Amino acid sequence: MPSPPTPRDHTAVSQAQLHRRRRRRATAIGLGLLVIVLAVGALTAGSSGSWDPAGLKAAATAAIPEAQLQRQAATAKRAADAARRERSRENAAVSTAIRTAPYVSAAGAETKRVALTFDDGPSPYTRGILDTLARFGAHATFFNLGYLVTPTTAATIRRVVAEGHVIGDHSWDHTDFTKLPRAQVRAQLVRTNATLSATGAPPPRLFRPPYGAFNPSLLAQIRKAKMLTILWSIDTADYSATDPAEMAQQVLSDIKPGSIILMHDGGGNRTTTSNALPLILKGLKERGYEAVTVPQLLVTNPPSSSQQSATPTPAP
Ligand code: NI
Repeated sequence: MPSPPTPRDHTAVSQAQLHRRRRRRATAIGLGLLVIVLAVGALTAGSSGSWDPAGLKAAATAAIPEAQLQRQAATAKRAADAARRERSRENAAVSTAIRTAPYVSAAGAETKRVALTFDDGPSPYTRGILDTLARFGAHATFFNLGYLVTPTTAATIRRVVAEGHVIGDHSWDHTDFTKLPRAQVRAQLVRTNATLSATGAPPPRLFRPPYGAFNPSLLAQIRKAKMLTILWSIDTADYSATDPAEMAQQVLSDIKPGSIILMHDGGGNRTTTSNALPLILKGLKERGYEAVTVPQLLVTNPPSSSQQSATPTPAP
């Protein structure tokens, strides 16, 4: 038979009930206060006529300890300094090559780095090519034609630069420079470089002659303009290729440290080039190669002063 509750038990039950009641009361008061605070807040925001996210953000920023802000600023400054030093190393490597080599068709073999180059753009294919390069963390050099710069393609050129690629000069209108008087060559260089830099790109220091056509007098003129003539050691012949897998296979079988690879992002239908690019980049990665810009390649793989002549290309 259960024994009746003792007075002590009775007291314990009462106290527990009392606690529950107090908790309920406290919760109710808390909720009430919250409602009042929210209502006053809404009224204040309403009466001042504006919701102030900037002020809140400033308050949040002010809450970040000073030491943390200083660390963030120092990290950003170190990154900017490192990028500036790298740009200046690249500029120095280009200047050295201008002094020591008549032109560059291949860089040295010091590291497993190669340079992919795209001619005859900017074009509607350029953006897709940039997407693929970004996906593989690869960088490239784009030899652009001045007359193709429009407000739309200028945005593409800005994206090329912002994503760490390099813009080079491929003439104003793809005229064979060996058939032009010197004054006209000069006019083409000045106009093209001014147009390309007006987009926000650094003034081009690399020049690729249309059709790969050059002679000693043209080389001397390019050098006098403080520009470096860049040819290639691997021609993908992408202007006539129809099978991306075959094109990629050909490039990968010819690849060597310091290779400069000729491709096209403009001048025609570049579907095969666009589809071959991921296969080429995947193959390069598997073989331990890094795809970099021409100036980056010249820093680590200085070109020899005796350069092999590249085969001229047919008209795009
Ligand atoms: Ni071309």
